[in-house]
Amino acid sequence: MIIEALRVPLIPGVIALTELGAPYITPRGYSDYWLYAELFSSTCRVALDGGRVVGIALGFRSQDAPEDLYVQDVMTHPDHRRRGVTRGLVDELREQAWELGCRRLYLTSKPGNSAAHKTWERLGFTNIRGDSFIDGVSLITDYKGPGQTRAVYELVREG
Ligand SMILES: CC(C)(COP(=O)(O)OP(=O)(O)OC[C@H]1O[C@@H](n2cnc3c(N)ncnc32)[C@H](O)[C@@H]1OP(=O)(O)O)[C@@H](O)C(=O)NCCC(=O)NCCS
Repeated sequence: MIIEALRVPLIPGVIALTELGAPYITPRGYSDYWLYAELFSSTCRVALDGGRVVGIALGFRSQDAPEDLYVQDVMTHPDHRRRGVTRGLVDELREQAWELGCRRLYLTSKPGNSAAHKTWERLGFTNIRGDSFIDGVSLITDYKGPGQTRAVYELVREG
């Protein structure tokens, strides 16, 4: 497996991957990925196996809070899970974030996504305390808007 920055020619592979992501990940439009590849490629990473896209982790440095890097749409192909693809992608994003001067990676997952919860905990993220719990996972009601309750996780740079 190799990890690369997202580039425009990889977009069809990213869309094909995300078509397998239900119920937690759904494909975005081609022009959304174009924007990520053209404006955010240094923090949008793709894992390739034999030229095929098998994982993604798309990061965006906040312009409003430049110490933050938000990570969205983390996904591994169902046939490649539990082999360290996400660990590799997040390791690279973290290194890149610290190089840019960020001090925090954060991300969200939907209620009930226990594989994601276990993954973020194993990768050292902290589940931010919210206002309710499901299966031991803390949730923030309406975090991303009405009806968009999320578990929120962060990884803060030490030192
Ligand atoms: C969540 C997801 C991205 C994890 O990707 P992955 O490539 O399988 O994860 P990795 O193999 O890198 O695992 C990272 C760590 O999490 C652990 N982990 C991953 N999935 C796990 C699961 N289902 N149960 C328990 N632990 C799990 C691994 O054991 C590993 O820890 P270790 O290295 O200490 O053993 C993947 O299951 C996925 O794509 N799910 C569907 C889309 C989704 O829900 N994305 C997240 C949205 S927030």
